[in-house]
Amino acid sequence: MAEPLRIALAGIGTVGAGVIRLIETNGALITRRAGRPIAITAVSARDRGKDRGVDISGYGWEDDMTAMAARGDVDAVVELVGGADGPALTLARNAIAHGKSLVTANKAMIAHHGLELAALSEQARVALKFEAAVAGGIPVIKGLREGAAANRIERLYGILNGTCNFILSAMEDTGRDFADVLAEAQARGYAEADPGFDIEGTDAAHKLAILSAIAFGTRIDFASVDTAGITRIQAADIAQAGTLGYVIRLIGIAEVDSFDENGAGGTRRLFQRVQPHLVPCGHPLAHVDGATNAVVAEGNFAGRLLFQGAGAGDGPTASAVVADLIDIARGDLGGEAGAPFSIPVAEMETMAPAPSGHRRSRAYIRFTVADRPGVLAEITAAMRDAGVSIESLIQRGRAEEGGDVMVAIVTHDGPEVGVRRALALLEGSASLSEAPLVMQILGE
Ligand code: HSE
Repeated sequence: MAEPLRIALAGIGTVGAGVIRLIETNGALITRRAGRPIAITAVSARDRGKDRGVDISGYGWEDDMTAMAARGDVDAVVELVGGADGPALTLARNAIAHGKSLVTANKAMIAHHGLELAALSEQARVALKFEAAVAGGIPVIKGLREGAAANRIERLYGILNGTCNFILSAMEDTGRDFADVLAEAQARGYAEADPGFDIEGTDAAHKLAILSAIAFGTRIDFASVDTAGITRIQAADIAQAGTLGYVIRLIGIAEVDSFDENGAGGTRRLFQRVQPHLVPCGHPLAHVDGATNAVVAEGNFAGRLLFQGAGAGDGPTASAVVADLIDIARGDLGGEAGAPFSIPVAEMETMAPAPSGHRRSRAYIRFTVADRPGVLAEITAAMRDAGVSIESLIQRGRAEEGGDVMVAIVTHDGPEVGVRRALALLEGSASLSEAPLVMQILGE
């Protein structure tokens, strides 16, 4: 029997415990597939005595997780601590500096420091793998980096946050309110330590920035992802969307564009956005419910590829972590030929962010307005003056004296800048009780 791949595991939370359980449960199968066993040599976490439902007494223990990188009995380090910086980043740098391969589920760290870590790993000729950082158990990084490697990817979009998808689909199915459903998502172990990362769209933006780099060969640019979360979505929006034949999903979308601020063609630019969208009921993404994630990649030869599966939770995320370990056990040790982002860091293209004003789509705009004469006229006049054509307009309910009502508008296809101009004309209007909410409608 070949020597085992000896691993150190930092962080034994939901995913870490899942990794231990998976290696213990499927050990024999993994050994056959990898050609050698994967053996846990050392573990580290904040609290040694905590009950995690797995027995860690048989593994070496390190109080200081960053020290695991220097151990002579470790070939690969698995970082499941989380956080873009701090101990996770120190451990990652130390591991590579000590010639260890690194497997991580840490999307924040990869979105912020992935290029630095990839360059270090390429120089050190060790593996840096992060399948579990994007879309839980779905092998989308492998899918893009390996399966679709021959294609130019034209566009990439999908549902990248299980917590948001769970919340939106549960609100849709049950009519429950946002806070109640968020608490359930947290209890199920889907949400980040800071659920703000989920519901404000940051987690999806981390994942989108990582996928963009792999799909388009561009340097990671998390800061330029135009990000909005789901906190402003009301049950009434979901009901309204349903009446019109749509569901609401938080969608991340990225593509290479070549338009400048004036809509003129020219230099290649990277468009990246995370925003709630109205998704037509017939679209494959409309059927993605619960904590499921789905990513669509359009290849110039493969056509439309759809990757779908559990996007969060201990089992699926552990499955992705251990798949990376199996690759390393099989001998995929990185170096330039094993570039973590598919092409070596030095060859990745720097692209300026693409402006979005010229992008065409239909849009849903929800206004909360005072229920009095002239309000609709004011809104439609702003649309007319900005050149926005209205496809439908619905006012829901009749408010009590002095109360607010909801007005939902769907526009015809047109440039985004038109809607922005219309809303700028309405800014400060006494008729509007709160800022309007705009959601793009995903094309078929
Ligand atoms: N909080 C993340 C989600 C977990 O809800 O998708 C997986 O990254």
